[in-house]
Parts: sequence; C-alpha cells; structure tokens
Amino acid sequence: MASPRGEFSSRFGFIMAAAGSAVGLGNIWGFPTQAASNGGAAFLLVYLFLAFTLAYPALMAELIIGRHAHANAVSALRQISPNRVLRSIGGGTGVIGLVVASFILSFYAIVAGWMLAHCLAALTDLAGMGAASDWLTDFSFSRNLVFMLIFMALTVGIISEGVQQGIERWSSRLMPLLLLSLVLLVIYVLTLDGAMEGLRVYLLPDFERALAPGLIVKALGAAFFSLSLGVGTMLIYGSYISDRENLPVVGGLVTLVDICIAVLAGFLVLPAMYVALNSGVEIFTAGGALISEDTLIFTVLPKLFDSMGLAGIGVSLVFFFLMTIAALTSSISMLEVPVAYTIEEHGVARKPAVLVIGATIALVSTVILLNFEALFGLVIAVTTRYSQPLLGFMFCLYAGWVWHRDTLLQELRKGNAGVEHSLFWKLWPGYVRVFCPLIILLIFAQSLLE
Ligand code: PHE
Repeated sequence: MASPRGEFSSRFGFIMAAAGSAVGLGNIWGFPTQAASNGGAAFLLVYLFLAFTLAYPALMAELIIGRHAHANAVSALRQISPNRVLRSIGGGTGVIGLVVASFILSFYAIVAGWMLAHCLAALTDLAGMGAASDWLTDFSFSRNLVFMLIFMALTVGIISEGVQQGIERWSSRLMPLLLLSLVLLVIYVLTLDGAMEGLRVYLLPDFERALAPGLIVKALGAAFFSLSLGVGTMLIYGSYISDRENLPVVGGLVTLVDICIAVLAGFLVLPAMYVALNSGVEIFTAGGALISEDTLIFTVLPKLFDSMGLAGIGVSLVFFFLMTIAALTSSISMLEVPVAYTIEEHGVARKPAVLVIGATIALVSTVILLNFEALFGLVIAVTTRYSQPLLGFMFCLYAGWVWHRDTLLQELRKGNAGVEHSLFWKLWPGYVRVFCPLIILLIFAQSLLE
C-alpha cells in the first residue's frame, strides 16, 4: 500500500465535494432539456419520485460501504464479501465501475470543453475578435480537441493535489460560486419577455408524455447519472468521510442539494427557451417537438444571447462559466475513481497515477472525437443509461444481501449512536434489499420489451 489515505476535513468540505460531484452537466444541461421534451412538470415529478425512492437509498449504499472499508470500490466490495465467489464478483463489479467512470469522463471532457470554448467566446466577442469567436463556437475537430485537452489538464491538476488540497479545496471554492451565478441568471432570465410561457411549460404537467414508455428508463438513468451513482464515485468519496459523521444526514443533504440545483436549472433553461422563441429564434423542430439536448444549449441559447446585445455577452459568459465549474467539480470525482484504485491496489504514487490515467482517458476522448457520429451517442447510452443503473443494482445487492446486517448497523452507529431507533434504519435496509433492486430490474425489463 502506498501513501496514507486522505480524509475530508469537515462536513462542509464533504458536502461541497459530493454535491460538486453530483451537480454537473447532468443537472444543468441534461435534466432541464429532458424535462422540456418529456412533459415538463410531469417529468419533474417522475424524476423527483425516483431520486428520493431509488437514488437516495442507492447513494447511501455506496457511502456506507465506502466509509466502512475506507478503500476504493474494488477492495471495499471484496472486504464485505464472506466467501471467494462473492469476493470475485464484488471485485469485478468494482473494476467495471472504474472502467465505466473513465468512459463517462471521456465524453464528459468533450462536452465540458465546448462549455469552456463558449465561455471564452464571450470574452473574444467583447474584444471584437470575430474570427476567434467563430473558431471557438464552430464545431471543428481542432476546437474540440484543444478544449477537451485543456479541460482534462484542469481535472488532472486538481486531482494530483489529493483529497483535501485538491478535491475539497476546489469544490468548496467553486460550488458557492456556481450557486450564486445560477441564482443570478434565473432572476435575470425570469424578467425577460416570454419567460412566463416557459415557466408554464415547466410547471404544468403533461401526464400523457410522462407515462410514455421509455420515459421512466430515461428518468431513472438521469437520476442515477445526476447523483453520480453506480461507478464507485460516491463510494470513494464516502471512504474519505470521517467516522464521526452521521451518514444518512450527510447523504440526505447531498441528495437535496443535487435535486434543488436540477430543479433550479429548469427555472433557467425552460424560460430561456421561450425568451428565445419570443425574440424570433426557432425552438420547435419541423415535427412540432421542442428542440432539446445539444441543439438547445449550443444553438438556441447562443442565438438568444446574441439577440440581447451587450447584456447577452455578459449573460453568456456567466452561463458557460457556470457550466464549466459544474463540469469540473464532477469530472474530478470521476477521475478519482481509477486513480484511488491504482494508488491503493498497485502502490503507485498519486502524481504518476493521475498523469497516466488522465492521458489514457484523453486518448479515448480523441478516438471518440475522430469517430464522433458513431461513438459519442453510443458511449453516453451504454455508460449512463445501462451501466450506471445496473451497477447501482449490484451495490444495492452487496449492501442489502451480502454484507452482514450487524456490521452494517455498527458502521452507522459510529456517527449516530441511536441509529437503530431511527426511521432510516427501519426503512432503508429492507428498501435496499428488495425495493431498489426489484424496481431497477422492472424498469429494465420494461425497456427491453419496447
Ligand atoms: N453527476 C454528474 C452530473 O450530473 C455526472 C457524474 C456521473 C459524475 C458519474 C460522477 C460519476 O453531471
């Protein structure tokens, strides 16, 4: 074993780091755009329901296993297994998790690079450098490659500093900034003409759309992606929490921050779309559906900002800066998964481990960029829609069935002596044993039948 393990220095530090991991492009980009095209408030309700009933219990499974083992997912799942077969399956699950985390980072860094480029484009606009702005906002291999590399370098820089000096310090600085810029943007956009129409779409449920087959799988994937579940991220962050901490409470706070920011981002993105419509930008496709996902952020919003003149440049700067910060506090948590494993299992020092793994993932991103049409959507679907919930399913089985209930209770007692009398202990174990795995499987079965 190499260097001693890191630990978050305070509850605030942990919550900022874990909420930083959870709050990312999934919240500010994915959630509002999916809500926009899937029945507005109805999608919101399905999402909220799944987040509290499925994602929170699964998050707790990861946090508790991580804190108990004080180790990465591979060795943690092995530690709680009573026999050889379960130990191998647990180790295998951890390894698949770290591979999936690395693939998520490989597409995430590409998208985050676009955010960074658009953020800089606001500055070059301000300086009147039209040609530079065009290069920064046009979809080209060179632009994509350069900004993916810059973003990866930032991620590598933070992770090479370790848990307290890197993850905790930067999350505690960036998260308050993110919240502030989000709130300012929401207030501003809500004052513009057309915003109220967007608010109506967001808040009035269209249940017919929300019950459409396929939507629940999407909402489940969105909830798991949003809380960074299934790939060992929350497990490794849990392993850096002090034994004095009350886990159900901190886990609850992280879930709450994550959901609140997703919901808040909806108050920005949907009204902004209708403000754009009001100023002549097309937001519906030929078929009458709402334009969403990448088209929304990279075509509709910039057009909206353009139509706002000088104020638009400021808004664009703040918006894409916000997206970049959100992405960075998440990307560091993805990189920490393979890095922690390599340090702990193979005795490599942190800096070389971070460099080699970061470079390998950047190489994968480059391959995706070279075969964009074929690979980009595929990697996203395989990692987030299928792998994350299925791996989350395995973590629930390990917390609920494989791990001995007494050891689990002892782990929870560390930060809360009377936990066995709490509502959490009355509900959660049964929940994570039966309800979570069953629902995840049912949702999958339904998606396969489509
Ligand atoms: N939760 C992040 C988001 O919402 C994405 C993420 C997935 C982070 C998996 C870490 C691990 O954007």
